[in-house]
Amino acid sequence: MSILFTNIKELVQVRKSTTEPLRGKEMDDLPSIKNAYLWLEDGLIKDYGSMDDFLPHPAEEVYDCTDKIITPGYVDSHTHLVFAATREREFEDRIHGLTYEEIAARGGGILNSAASLEKMTEDELYEQARLRLDNVVAQGTTAIEIKSGYGLSVESELKILRVVSRLKKSGTSNNCIIPIKATFLGAHAFPVKYKENREEYIKLIIEEMLPKIAEEQLADYVDVFCEKNYFTVDEMLRIIEAGSAYGLKSKVHVNQFTSLGAIDAAVKAGAVSVDHLEVMGNEDFTALSGAKTIATALPSCSFFLGLDYAPVNEMIDQNVAVSLASDYNPGSTPSGNLNFVFSLACIKMRMTPQRAFNALTVNAAHALEVHDELGSITIGKRANLMVFKNIDGIAAIPYNFGQVIIDQVVVDGEFI
Ligand code: NIG
Ligand code: FE
Repeated sequence: MSILFTNIKELVQVRKSTTEPLRGKEMDDLPSIKNAYLWLEDGLIKDYGSMDDFLPHPAEEVYDCTDKIITPGYVDSHTHLVFAATREREFEDRIHGLTYEEIAARGGGILNSAASLEKMTEDELYEQARLRLDNVVAQGTTAIEIKSGYGLSVESELKILRVVSRLKKSGTSNNCIIPIKATFLGAHAFPVKYKENREEYIKLIIEEMLPKIAEEQLADYVDVFCEKNYFTVDEMLRIIEAGSAYGLKSKVHVNQFTSLGAIDAAVKAGAVSVDHLEVMGNEDFTALSGAKTIATALPSCSFFLGLDYAPVNEMIDQNVAVSLASDYNPGSTPSGNLNFVFSLACIKMRMTPQRAFNALTVNAAHALEVHDELGSITIGKRANLMVFKNIDGIAAIPYNFGQVIIDQVVVDGEFI
């Protein structure tokens, strides 16, 4: 099947290759072609260029895109999309003055989510998660990471990861399959019965959960919530190391509320990404400067919890490879809308639209290790695209905050 888009007003994020993440001044450049064509074949990008150089291409379908801007789809490298119940009650408690930490300390938060998930069947969880997946794909997410972490027992962690595995195969309700990576986050919180015996729970993660997950090939990454009252830097390192014995690379939650030295440790341990980064000390910048590890900021979480925003421009100035993701979860970010993340990045973090879009595509693809197949308009990559109608440029996306102005989403060369 071959599709041709002609007279495209602007084809955005065109790159010969994206083997390395973007850093520093590279983040300011968002290469595009005005009055362009784009040729897709069998779901892949076969050719593109300026209409001035256009030679007729064989195509079953041809679309005139005079008033359209075409870009690659977003990549969401950090979500907790499989969960059982929303947490409006805690949302109201926070409005009345309780903090996220206080709610967690009295058994709310992650433990609350784990309690409701335990009661839900795998099928129910799957049906709900699939509807969420439908929604985010319609909002332009064309590759996604999904974590476990609301199970906190062998059975429930496996249940979540089996749901993710089913989503990988089935895709959305209308069978639209996007790349999905699964992350095992058994180390999300200590269940109450292990509060006084942390070592037992860590043993459960390392000696029971990980081997079973590896045996069923249910995870691509391992994650740890490294934070005061959660997992220490040493515990994080042990779990990263245990994961790597099963071939799992790591992506970790760090520096959400406190700077504990986790970034330096995670970078040295070869983490693919360090995520959150709302609280950054000088040594954290130093550890990330020039590092291969991607720094993923989650501005919707800051927005929802009223936290500081990750200092992304300062990181970019210090040669850190910055990406953006949603953190979609019921506690701190009940939204997987990356268009809103884009708005927050520009409005609250003062990223330029160019920087933010690079962070949501090329660098996000690196944070999910799908940069060879997604994140840019590059020959040979998968044709996962967004089409915008009647806008002047991509700044219209963050400008129209709270709205989804995408006209069409394309996955593997097909309109969804
Ligand atoms: O990434 N910080 C840790 N985990 C989630 C929130 C968990 C929850 O409140 O349910 C996050 O923000
Ligand atoms: Fe998270």
